[in-house]
Amino acid sequence: MLVLLWHCSTPSLSPAAETCSTIRTSYNPTAALRSDAFTLTPGDPRWSAFLVWAKAKKLYTFQIIGLSQKKGDSPGVIFRWATDTVWQKDVILPFGQALGHMVAERRWRDADFPEFFSSRGGIFDVDLAERLATMDAQTLRPWQEFFHSVTAPKSPARPRLNARLLSVAPDRQSASIAFGQNRIALYLADRLRSDLSLFLTDCAVAEFFEEYDKSKQSTSGERTEMTAEASAAEHRGNVSSSQTKILGTFPLRGKAIYASQCSGCHGEAGDGRGMLTLSWLPRPRNFVRGSFRYRSTPSGSPPTDADLFRTVSKGLAGSGMPAFEAILSEQERWDVVAYIKQFSPRFASGSEPSPTPVSATPQVTEQRIARGASIYVDSGCPSCHGAEGRGNGRSGQDLKTAEGDPIIPRDLTHKWSFRGGHTPSAIYRRIANGMDGSSMAAYEEVLEPNDLWDLVFYVLSLSPEQRPREKSVMQ
Ligand code: HEC
Ligand code: HEC
Repeated sequence: MLVLLWHCSTPSLSPAAETCSTIRTSYNPTAALRSDAFTLTPGDPRWSAFLVWAKAKKLYTFQIIGLSQKKGDSPGVIFRWATDTVWQKDVILPFGQALGHMVAERRWRDADFPEFFSSRGGIFDVDLAERLATMDAQTLRPWQEFFHSVTAPKSPARPRLNARLLSVAPDRQSASIAFGQNRIALYLADRLRSDLSLFLTDCAVAEFFEEYDKSKQSTSGERTEMTAEASAAEHRGNVSSSQTKILGTFPLRGKAIYASQCSGCHGEAGDGRGMLTLSWLPRPRNFVRGSFRYRSTPSGSPPTDADLFRTVSKGLAGSGMPAFEAILSEQERWDVVAYIKQFSPRFASGSEPSPTPVSATPQVTEQRIARGASIYVDSGCPSCHGAEGRGNGRSGQDLKTAEGDPIIPRDLTHKWSFRGGHTPSAIYRRIANGMDGSSMAAYEEVLEPNDLWDLVFYVLSLSPEQRPREKSVMQ
């Protein structure tokens, strides 16, 4: 669900509630239409007519217009719904949810905004959140600059920020949503409803309920399509356009932080099936299984709190899992770590597993790299990662995760895509401890620490010194 936290629950959405008090339709035969909630659900016979009407009225449209950063609140992204209609309303979505929209659904990459990134270090063709984090992961400055630039009146990027309901799907329950010019996603009925309830009330769409009844009564018996021309001036439950509802921002702790920042991707139940990323691969981690990849602990053990804290703070490169360092305070990140551990009984014992010891990083030498090259072959790494490390080994072609999703071995010639980081000790951890739930096994039982270091240096030697840029857009 998108709306998880209504901070100020009392103020009604519609200031024109009294105008609705006398309207009776088949939807509300005995009571006034609600001016504090949108109650129409996909199960109602009116649902498909409502979607058609919402499309005609340009009601289901939104633009991303900037960042909101009130003092003391966690930051959010401002979505302007129903732009230039009487229903227009700005809704602030918590950052994590907004990232789901921008990165998971719209699939925004730095390459989509060449005018912004080419003058700021070039384009690497990575997802937007990751690219901005490379500019400065600890503050929101890159995001501020980004929104400031792309939403400027003359910015060529502006049309790319718009979304609209393109067509109602044949099942008449769900709908395709177009993002910018060329991206389309299918939103299921529950998702549409959850979005609509962000900015509508029953009273605000009184006109629909009345028109629906009229179309039903029309003597010809035909289904009259409700037209866009129906005057907006007649609209009764007018919502003031300047009104802003703030969702889930305030000093939040564990559960509340999760609900606002993580659940859109990881799911309310922690099962990795958030509404924003239903068809995403890699799937957001299923916390209920309690199996984690970016650990300092032996294979088969749960991670330490510090491991989880690192993932939340730094994100996982190339996967869409954002870096929350700039968004959540240190305390908030620890709080949410404590919360996600509740999803799995694997953490129930309460005692934290100990990290396996890692010796200080030795000096890298040509000899070590050369030894590492033969250990790479002898240990069977090429079967998945390929002889040259490009991630194209024969057995790597149809690997599956423990949950049955396809997974591809990492391209070792591009260390910037290593999700757990590419410092020597981070790579040592991945190879020594393995990545539970994927097919990457733990090698600490088979290789001596010295061999592991050689292997680490060999892996690092496969990537160029400088992070390569996207050639087609290089200046
Ligand atoms: C935009 C979507 C998105 C959001 C928002 C998001 N995640 Fe993730 N997260 C992912 C994806 C995708 C993965 C899996 C990446 C992979 O396996 O390569 C992941 C993986 C993880 C992991 C697994 C690390 C491991 O060791 O296996 C943790 C822990 C995690 N996320 C915590 C969080 C927390 C806490 C939040 C909220 C503060 C959050 N995530 C918000 C997408 C998201
Ligand atoms: C059975 C196939 C398989 C073998 C054998 C294998 N790997 Fe992997 N490796 C993978 C997969 C799959 C991933 C990606 C896992 C993921 O995305 O969760 C991966 C990821 C990695 C990563 C990236 C870690 C990160 O932070 O993103 C490194 C480094 C790596 N492997 C090195 C090695 C080395 C060195 C060997 C040999 C000692 C090896 N692998 C053997 C399948 C394999």
